[in-house]
Amino acid sequence: MPSFADFDRRNYRTVDVATGYDGWAPTYEQTVMDEMDLALLDRLRHPDWRRIRRAADLGCGTGRTGGWLRGRGITDIDGVDLSAGMLALARVRGAHATLAQADVRDTGLASGGYDLVISSLIDEHLPDLAPYYAEARRLAAPGGTFVLVSYHPQFMMVTGMPTHYTPESGEPLAISTHLHLFSEHVAAGVGAGWQLAEVAEALVDDAWLAAKPKWAALRGHPFTMALVWTLPR
Ligand SMILES: C[S@@+](CC[C@H](N)C(=O)[O-])C[C@H]1O[C@@H](n2cnc3c(N)ncnc32)[C@H](O)[C@@H]1O
Repeated sequence: MPSFADFDRRNYRTVDVATGYDGWAPTYEQTVMDEMDLALLDRLRHPDWRRIRRAADLGCGTGRTGGWLRGRGITDIDGVDLSAGMLALARVRGAHATLAQADVRDTGLASGGYDLVISSLIDEHLPDLAPYYAEARRLAAPGGTFVLVSYHPQFMMVTGMPTHYTPESGEPLAISTHLHLFSEHVAAGVGAGWQLAEVAEALVDDAWLAAKPKWAALRGHPFTMALVWTLPR
């Protein structure tokens, strides 16, 4: 399998997830665009959000996904994240019923109780997808759905850009980044017992280029994707 290092064009100094997101937390929401993830969620045909009672939000960050779920009337949401700095902002936002500092591969949440597991923009920080899909499977109730939003591997390969931010020091820092091909997602998802129900891709378009004109050469390329996985009842 190719590794992100084979494509890295920035070669920034790399920090681990907790260090990176604790440092990024104060400015994170000014740099992440809703087109990357929330606009993709808006477009999904599955699940029927009105039927969701209980959700687990893996890598909940500052609570952007939780806020979006609240907008769909879902309030029973348990969030986990490794970064204390991101969790502190999620607490202020108040979109989640509970928040805990934990790894998405070993959340400590109860088995089989969630009709929705959702996880947005985090899989590029995991070296191996299998434990992540397996933990989502453990949490999900029969008939449950796993919605995963990811950077598109094509975008990572074309841009050679790791997940990164620029702290006050002015030195850009990469946060440990891994490339996962679509086939790796399918192998990990199917291996954990999930069935793929829907895939949506967000493309670099006029809306995106209005905010990021420097990406004009990438018009039409996918930059994120949403995978919707389901379990039989
Ligand atoms: C790009 S942010 C996305 C946050 C949120 N889901 C959103 O869409 O705004 C990635 C988040 O995943 C968390 N994260 C990365 N790896 C993790 C892991 N192994 N376990 C728990 N959280 C993790 C980071 O701390 C960070 O808050």
